Amino acid sequence: MLFVRAVLTNQLAKYAHPLYLKLGNRSGRGDPNEKPEVTAGYYHQCVHDYFEQLSLGERTPGSYLQGKKVLEYGPGDTLGVALLLYAHGAESVHCVDRFPIHAVAERTLKIYQALLQSLHGEQRVRAENAFNERGNPKSGFNPTAIAYHVTEDGVSGRQSAYDLVISRSVLALVNRLDQTLQDISRALKPGGISIHKVDLGSHGLDRDRPLDFLSWPEVLYRMMYSRKGRPNRWRVDKYQELVSATGLRLLKLTPTSQLTQQETELVRPKLAKPFRALPPDLLSWLGFWMVLERVAS
Ligand SMILES: C[S@@+](CC[C@H](N)C(=O)[O-])C[C@H]1O[C@@H](n2cnc3c(N)ncnc32)[C@H](O)[C@@H]1O
Repeated sequence: MLFVRAVLTNQLAKYAHPLYLKLGNRSGRGDPNEKPEVTAGYYHQCVHDYFEQLSLGERTPGSYLQGKKVLEYGPGDTLGVALLLYAHGAESVHCVDRFPIHAVAERTLKIYQALLQSLHGEQRVRAENAFNERGNPKSGFNPTAIAYHVTEDGVSGRQSAYDLVISRSVLALVNRLDQTLQDISRALKPGGISIHKVDLGSHGLDRDRPLDFLSWPEVLYRMMYSRKGRPNRWRVDKYQELVSATGLRLLKLTPTSQLTQQETELVRPKLAKPFRALPPDLLSWLGFWMVLERVAS
């Protein structure tokens, strides 16, 4: 029953992308009842996490970001991270997504207002100037500050254009991980840095125990979920392999959470073919931070 329903809705997703995405809650911050101030706090946390991964040492976020062009993959329905990075000093922030999720809705406008109110001094002035009319989110983003594009497969298609490339809860959902990592590599300027928080969980697809969504044979899994922005199921070993194939340098790879040994042993015998050779210590990873550098030539 689950299989039949999933295959049918996968077909529906082909023709009804935006509607399907709304129903399927693919936005990242899907709770419509969350207070705008709370959601604003989430975006502050995201930006704080990126700064932490950058290991800035003595430098302030503002001095690091000054004059830097940033690309964010998969921002979700609200460009909160983009607004804060611009406020902190980035020269521009471009967002790219495979699905047209960002929209000027009442809820998003309230979140932008809450973000403006949470900022002070120079950062507040910069954030207000990110909009076409100063401080008015309804007027839309000034594209020289913050731009949003929806492209096929969610790639930027840019070459040596960005100093910093980021994503959060996106790479595990991209349909072509190899293509997205190549896009990151090409889009970065030499010496540019890329930071990704990757969530390897099932995004609600487990049935009995953690990671048992890895038991579906690949062909059946694709029939059920290929068009819905559901997890691509690649594990951390695939990221390591693809990163080294793109020529990017891996600066950091740190797990954010892991299955217990007992949980790993329970799921192991049920795994589909692509995951059987994975060592238990890597299978246990439920998410990770990855920091990459495009080597200056
Ligand atoms: C779970 S949401 C994360 C949103 C936001 N980054 C956050 O952390 O709140 C996943 C985002 O990735 C986007 N996405 C899915 N496939 C993508 C692809 N191939 N390229 C770029 N973005 C993609 C989705 O449309 C959505 O915006």
